[in-house]
Amino acid sequence: MYVICIGLEGTAEKTGVGIVDSDGHILALQGRALLPEKGGIHPREAAQHHAENLVPLIKKSLNEANLSLEDLDMVAFARGPGLGPALRTVATAARSLALSLDVPIVGVNHCIGHIEIGRLTTGCQDPLTLYVSGGNTQVTAFDAGRYQIFGETLDIAIGNCLDQFARTVGLGHPGGPRVEELALASDNYLKLPYTVKGMDLSFSGLLTAAIRKYESGAALEDVCHSLQETAFAMLVEVTERALAHSKKSEVLLVGGVAANQRLREMLEVMAQEHYAEFFMPEMKYCGDNGAMNAWLGLLMYQNSKKMDICDTRVKQRFRTDQ
Ligand code: KG4
Repeated sequence: MYVICIGLEGTAEKTGVGIVDSDGHILALQGRALLPEKGGIHPREAAQHHAENLVPLIKKSLNEANLSLEDLDMVAFARGPGLGPALRTVATAARSLALSLDVPIVGVNHCIGHIEIGRLTTGCQDPLTLYVSGGNTQVTAFDAGRYQIFGETLDIAIGNCLDQFARTVGLGHPGGPRVEELALASDNYLKLPYTVKGMDLSFSGLLTAAIRKYESGAALEDVCHSLQETAFAMLVEVTERALAHSKKSEVLLVGGVAANQRLREMLEVMAQEHYAEFFMPEMKYCGDNGAMNAWLGLLMYQNSKKMDICDTRVKQRFRTDQ
């Protein structure tokens, strides 16, 4: 049966709307990120941003797809993980839409959404995925009938580490692109703590050490270079071990931090050394977007994961392996 699904996204600061059909065509993709003038993302401000932007983005998406509201057969949205107020705002919008159109609703796991849109848009089949963003850092693969987490951060996400570092040293937000730019101007590696713990990672000690290095007089370019080299080597190490363990032959990189050229290079070299194929979606599908939730919602719906509208509560800590 041909189905058209609208997907809403708002786990963090990006409001996203996407429309996808059951043939895997992405018919519309619209988004708007909240860019705070100073400081980080406040959950209440993110929620307000979604409240203001969801309706205009839904209208723009329908226009882009040349559809009207009545053409939508189902609604999907991210239940989590994410910021509570932001999740609740988007869930409420999704429920209202589903109720007014009298169509099914499916709440999805945001992290799995990243993987599934990665599979759809790159054509990889059964990858080991490194998902790196402002709020999440995990190595996952489909194994024994479900998504398993092979390794993850024990404290803050890699994107958050780069963002907090950048904010503290006066580079503004988002920090990742600015750290990358400055890192290009240095090849002077300053020793920083390498904190891989078993298959997991920790970035908060690394963040503190990088800030201290800068405050004790090291050149900002050198600290940016060293922070990237250390953090990315840690990510590549756990991905490499998970690859050997899972015996997958594909490596998929997703999430906003995938924009980083150096991380891509390092991961691609590692994949090649293991005769695995490396995949990365176009950047518009790498960061948070509505199409990923629409596509995953569709897949779940087609696999009979129908949900009662009253059972679409959000889950701030929604684990990929739940
Ligand atoms: O997946 P994403 O768009 O959304 C959230 O997690 O909210 O990821 C955003 C993250 C931010 O932490 C940002 O600093 C990081 O992606 N990022 C980068 C680069 N571009 C964006 N990190 C490293 N290098 C980049 N070029």
